[in-house]
Amino acid sequence: MIWQLFCTHIVLASIILLLFLSWLFWPCKHKSIRKGLIRTCGITLLGSILLALYTYWPRAYDKKYLDNTLSVELEQTPIKQLADSIEFYIGMATSPDSPYEELIVTEFNSIVAENHFKPGQLLVDAANWKFDFSKADQLMDHAEVNGLRMRGHTLIWGKFAGMTFPKQWIDVIDAAEDPKTTMKGLIKRYIETVMGHYQGRVMSWDVVNEPMGGEDLFPSIFSNSMGEEYIDYAFQIAREVDPACSLFLNEQIIDYQGPKGQAFLGLLKRLLDRGVPIDGVGLQCHHLNDIHDIDALKGYIRSIGAMGLNVEITELDVRLLLFRGKEDPYQAQGDQFRNVVKVCLDDPACKGVTLWGVSDGANWMDAVPPFQWKSPNAPNIWDEDMRKKPGYVGIWKALHDAQAQ
Ligand code: GLA
Repeated sequence: MIWQLFCTHIVLASIILLLFLSWLFWPCKHKSIRKGLIRTCGITLLGSILLALYTYWPRAYDKKYLDNTLSVELEQTPIKQLADSIEFYIGMATSPDSPYEELIVTEFNSIVAENHFKPGQLLVDAANWKFDFSKADQLMDHAEVNGLRMRGHTLIWGKFAGMTFPKQWIDVIDAAEDPKTTMKGLIKRYIETVMGHYQGRVMSWDVVNEPMGGEDLFPSIFSNSMGEEYIDYAFQIAREVDPACSLFLNEQIIDYQGPKGQAFLGLLKRLLDRGVPIDGVGLQCHHLNDIHDIDALKGYIRSIGAMGLNVEITELDVRLLLFRGKEDPYQAQGDQFRNVVKVCLDDPACKGVTLWGVSDGANWMDAVPPFQWKSPNAPNIWDEDMRKKPGYVGIWKALHDAQAQ
């Protein structure tokens, strides 16, 4: 992903470096070649600066939606009300003490902790297996008091040491005589503690997050010590701990018909063939560098449903920048929200959609490189002034149409 964004600049920087080094080491007597080299170096540098300015220059698009008058029905019927009437989950990622607490309770029937249920937040002292559930509990209580479903996100995730699993585990596994058995012990103890803590309260957990690294398994401490079996094992333990809980495998796919998408389907099939107790698949659906193809998404959900698994769209956000070529980027973004939600509503296997952020004023992409350097991200359905964007209207209409059917 980062490579995609920086590819041109990395190539250009390498060319400049090569030219500069050639100039440096070229024998002084060949003056014209030396001059040529330094000139080419200068031109490439200038070109690269101009390209960077063009790429990263902050852009803003006309907010045509501000001129639209929203219908009284839309203003008075929260999307939650529509979703409740058709038993569909419409969810939001949030944090304890979120400034949007009230709005979330009004508009959504499901929540997920954006960060507070992740291993890095819970297992505060890995060496002594010391957990701090205080913030996560606060969110759990808030969900229960307000009748919101809580999605558990996430138990086992091997991508970013420190945040997604304790860094100490790397040393533990490195020092282990039998890494596989040691890893099993870590997985078991972690899942037993965290799922056990929320048993009967969190009714749906992402047991494993983002197992794929392209076509193959992501090379993590989990896959390196256990291979694919770490997924089987995590699900087996999760099932033992809470047999009533719905167990999900969560992944970000973009190329549904491409290598990663197909490899993920292959993984699901193998898991099911081995009798792994998996109930559903979470498709994150972040729109970061690409607009997801709606027909491909539809076919993908159908394929997963055909395996007897449930599906949820678990982390939907849509980067505004992706619609820069459109006449009205905000409307095009809104149409994409509507289409994604509609695809889910249309397939009986797809049980809900969770959005990954409330307001454009506080969105995760503005805080994380490289996305923060390329604006506008504005990936949510309320703008920075908490005005409903076409994305809100789009989701509302999709739910309204489904209710009318
Ligand atoms: C992934 C994770 C989420 C979150 C987002 C970025 O999709 O599953 O928990 O970290 O990235 O905000």
